[in-house]
Amino acid sequence: MIRRSMNVLGIETSCDETGVALFSTEKGLLADALHSQVDLHAMYGGVVPEIASRDHIRCLLPLVRTVLEKAGVERPDAVAYTAGPGLVGALMVGGGMANGLGLAWDCPVVPVHHMEGHLVAPMLEDHAPEYPLLALLVSGGHTMLIAVHGFGEYELLGTTLDDAVGEAFDKSAKLLGLGYPGGPALAKLAEDGDPTAFDLPRPMLNREGYDFSFSGLKTAVMLVVRRAEDDGELDDRRADIAASFQRAAVDTLVGRALQAARDRQLDRIVIAGGVGANRLLRAEMARRFSGDVFYPRMQYCTDNGAMIAVAGALRLGDAEAAAEIRAQARWPLATLSPPGE
Ligand code: KG4
Ligand code: ZN
Repeated sequence: MIRRSMNVLGIETSCDETGVALFSTEKGLLADALHSQVDLHAMYGGVVPEIASRDHIRCLLPLVRTVLEKAGVERPDAVAYTAGPGLVGALMVGGGMANGLGLAWDCPVVPVHHMEGHLVAPMLEDHAPEYPLLALLVSGGHTMLIAVHGFGEYELLGTTLDDAVGEAFDKSAKLLGLGYPGGPALAKLAEDGDPTAFDLPRPMLNREGYDFSFSGLKTAVMLVVRRAEDDGELDDRRADIAASFQRAAVDTLVGRALQAARDRQLDRIVIAGGVGANRLLRAEMARRFSGDVFYPRMQYCTDNGAMIAVAGALRLGDAEAAAEIRAQARWPLATLSPPGE
C-alpha cells in the first residue's frame, strides 16, 4: 500500500540498456534517461555479458545524476532495481548501485522482477489497464501468456518451448544479413515486402494449450533464405521473406492470445516487452480482439528505467533496508505474490 507520496528511483541493468528513472507516486514519471549499448555489441552480433557489465558501471552513476537533476530532486525516498531475470554480472551492477545509494540516502531498496516491470509499463499511460487482464509478454528472452488476476497474482498459461519470439526476430534478421538487434530492422524491411510471398508455418496454433514454439519458424526462414541464395534472388526477396516471417510470428502470437482471452473470459489484453513495439502486432491485436488492448508507448516497450521505478513504487511493501544485493539469472514470474503491506 502506498501511504504517502514517494519518489522512487528505478534502475534497470539486466541486459544491454542502462535505464534510470524517477517516479512519483503522486505526480507520475518525473524524469528518465537511457543509455543503449547496441553499438558496443553490434560487431559481435549479440550481447557480450562482460562488456555489458563494464558499460553499466561506466554509465549508471552519471545517468542517476542526470535524472535527479532533471527532476529537481536531491534524494529519492526509495530505490528500485532489476534483480532478475537477466545477465548476472549486469544485474550485480544495478543491484550494487541501488544498495549503495540506499545506504547513503538511508532509504528502502526494492528488488524488482524485470518482466513485472514490462507488465506494469502501460500504467505510465493515460489509458492504463485495470485487473484482471491477459498479458502477452514478448521480449528477447521471454514469450509468455499470463492471466493476471491482480498485481503480483500471475498464472502462467503458456510459454515458449524453445526460442523466445524476440530471439526468432533477431535470428531471422541475422539470416537476412541485418544487424543486431534484428527485430526493429526486420520490421522496417518488412514494410516493403509482401507478407503472402512465402507460406511459413504458424507453429502450435492447432495444438491444445497456450504454449509457443518458434524454432520451426526460424528453420523455415533459414530454408527459404538458402533457396533464394541458391537461385541468386536473395536481394530481391529479402523484404518478402521479412514480411512473411513477421506475419507468421504475429499471427501466432495474436492467435494464441485470442484463444486464451476467450477461454478465460478476459476482456483486457496488455502487450509488453520489446516485441510489443512491433506495429503489425499492435495493429492485428487491435483489429482482431473485441476487448481493450493496452501497451506502453514505444520507448517503454524495450528495456527502460521507468518500468522498474513504477514496479518498485507498487512493491514498496516489499522494500528491504539496503543490505543484500539480489541478482537472479532465472526467476519464474509466476512465483511472485502480491506485495506485503
Ligand atoms: O524487452 P527487451 O528490450 O529486452 C529483453 O528483455 O529481452 O526486448 C528486446 C527484443 C529484441 O529481441 C528485439 O529484436 C525485439 O525486442 N524488438 C522487436 C521490435 N523492437 C524490439 N521485435 C519486433 N519488432 C520490433 N519493432
Ligand atoms: Zn526486457
